[in-house]
Amino acid sequence: MAKQKSKGLLGLIGKKKSKKSESDARKDLRLFEAMRDGEAYGDKELQRSAKDHLWMHFTRHSPYQTKDMTIITRGEGHYLWDSKGNRVIDGLSGLFAVNAGHGHQELADAAAKQMMELDYMPLWAYAHPRAIELAERLLSYAPKDLNRIFFTTGGGEAVETAWKIAKQYYKLKGKPTKTKVISRMTAYHGTSHGALSITGIAAMKAMFEPLVPATIRVPNTNWYRSKHLFKTEEEFGIWAANRIEEAILMEGADTVAAFYVEPIQNSGGCFTAHPSYFKRVREICDKYDVIFVADETITGYGRSGEMFASQRYGIEPDMMITAKAITSGTQPLGALFLKEKYFEPFTEGTTILPHGYTFAAHPVACAVALANLDIYDREKLVDNVRTNSPIFRKTLEKLYDLPIVGDVRGDGYFFAIELVKNQETRETFTKEESEKLLRGFLNSAFYEAGLYCRADDRGDPVVQLAPPLTIGPKEFDELEQILRKVLTEAWKRI
Ligand SMILES: Cc1ncc(COP(=O)(O)O)c(C=O)c1O
Repeated sequence: MAKQKSKGLLGLIGKKKSKKSESDARKDLRLFEAMRDGEAYGDKELQRSAKDHLWMHFTRHSPYQTKDMTIITRGEGHYLWDSKGNRVIDGLSGLFAVNAGHGHQELADAAAKQMMELDYMPLWAYAHPRAIELAERLLSYAPKDLNRIFFTTGGGEAVETAWKIAKQYYKLKGKPTKTKVISRMTAYHGTSHGALSITGIAAMKAMFEPLVPATIRVPNTNWYRSKHLFKTEEEFGIWAANRIEEAILMEGADTVAAFYVEPIQNSGGCFTAHPSYFKRVREICDKYDVIFVADETITGYGRSGEMFASQRYGIEPDMMITAKAITSGTQPLGALFLKEKYFEPFTEGTTILPHGYTFAAHPVACAVALANLDIYDREKLVDNVRTNSPIFRKTLEKLYDLPIVGDVRGDGYFFAIELVKNQETRETFTKEESEKLLRGFLNSAFYEAGLYCRADDRGDPVVQLAPPLTIGPKEFDELEQILRKVLTEAWKRI
């Protein structure tokens, strides 16, 4: 058994190279020299320097030995341009972030103005006006009873923060053993050790064990892969929620602090849930005094067709994590919303939460977030999603005439297309086939056809779309045409 396990881990490291890497010495800084000397440089020099010095995130570097990287140089509206002059539709809002679209002058102006007024102050013992204004403004859009905000620089930090607050809260309330977190299979909640422990993707975690102990996984709401087992989605929702109760009872309610859920789960491909699920989760959390944390890192700020997906699905979270589109991706910022109840024990005597980040609530990020919310209000971005989402869905559902399309699911401007070998039986691809299909063909084929999106197999293979909230029916047709062309070609290659 132990032998098998270590073999699995070695598999993740990749094949051992027989040849030692070229040299430990640093490669030439030729791009820097060209910049310093005012010499012209272009794609060729950027390519070489990127390959020599950049460490890309979540990215295989081996293909760059024989092919170029894609270097994105410009963004405007819902388009991106690369260093070779190609234009593509940004079908993923960068990384679920650029909800207001690229290139807003007023965001740049807000940043410049703030830099000249107050360029930096942390939120450690001293406050600053933009953080105060932003907290109130954010709360004006928030689900009921959320009243306090802890700023971070991103989603994962807010995931960590919520867990730390939960642990300390229960210690202060005389329940020191309530420390564990329940989360869902295949869910992604970030990469730092705590957030990764809450993440439900085994392959992402294996290399970093031992992780933070005391996290437990329960089923997600993958209806497409469960519908043959239940009469209705409502019944399935209640079944899935009841697994949380089961986990709480198994662990002991006095040991469980929180349950984390994305209202629409990204990894695995846009799993929505029937309202019965969230209603039952709320009941269970209330019954066992477990904090209900909605991770809206992706679904926040209009993506679902409401400002927050919690509002769309009648979720009443105790804590809500947001980031990414809070500044439409133009500045790093995260905001954890909390009910006052979780703050109250921290207001007494010498108690503090010993936790914070140098750049959280950066004045420039807060100023940009305020300007971003002005754009949301003026351009009615959330209304645009609410009005057009059914048309977006219908347009994508046209793809059902392709045999490779098994399921079109999601909500708002956040959809996944699950790819299958057999529409009728829902047979999926083997790991090898999926590898060939996604990394061997689809990702580059979509890009070459003019679409930046994500073909992903952290669960079953899916193509994911999360475009800026500014687009409408004309662009949906464009997306459908590209998807149709590429998926038709993919089917021929199977
Ligand atoms: C649901 C969810 N939680 C947390 C994170 C981590 O956010 P960040 O990369 O800003 O740390 C992400 C990132 O995509 C996410 O989708």
